[in-house]
Amino acid sequence: MIKAFLFDLDGVIVDTAIYHYQAWKQMANGLGFDISEEFNEQLKGVSRMDSLDIILTHGGIELSQEEKLALATQKNENYLNLVSKMSPEDILPGVTDFFAQVKKENIKTALGSVSKNAKLILESIGMSDDFDAIIDGTKIAKGKPDPEVFLKGAEELVVLPEECLVFEDAVAGVEAGKNGGMKVVGIGKKEVLTQADVVFENLVGVDIHELLAQIN
Ligand code: BG6
Ligand code: MG
Repeated sequence: MIKAFLFDLDGVIVDTAIYHYQAWKQMANGLGFDISEEFNEQLKGVSRMDSLDIILTHGGIELSQEEKLALATQKNENYLNLVSKMSPEDILPGVTDFFAQVKKENIKTALGSVSKNAKLILESIGMSDDFDAIIDGTKIAKGKPDPEVFLKGAEELVVLPEECLVFEDAVAGVEAGKNGGMKVVGIGKKEVLTQADVVFENLVGVDIHELLAQIN
């Protein structure tokens, strides 16, 4: 029986995925190459430093650890600049109504994000108090597709992995949920999130009772 919902942040709760892409694209362009939207799919849900390694390999560029840290810091500054004006208006369609249902049904909730900026983003959209547990990039050693972020969420909520339903927009995130022995709702395209148990374009009109009947 599902007792808890574990939510990814970027691309599920708020559309920061586009800003991560823009900031990485700007960095890549500065290094003399480009990254496409299709390429960006593999960066979703992946930690900052792992994303940087994937991009540099794609551009055929080798750098020292020090240079990589400087680039990652610069990318994060650009990203923070892009998200600095976020407000509750940036919450993705359907999320607020869905959370109202979650509260009514007394389902436990955790945030499971590899982002080190997660708390800041939650504050700016006014959703800091909507989660019973928050696991972010500052609390984990391994990024998605490792299941650590979701397993820690389950642990903090005192539920078993099989009692959790994960909400994810990233291929690596869907894999992380699956690797943790959890059911996964994909948010995005069916053709991309092939491992998810069910996929919705977004949370608009998603009814918890119907969803749970579909999952079980
Ligand atoms: C994930 C995003 O939520 O967080 C990735 O999908 C991002 O694109 C990762 O790289 C790490 O985020 P941050 O904010 O710590 O750089
Ligand atoms: Mg995401």
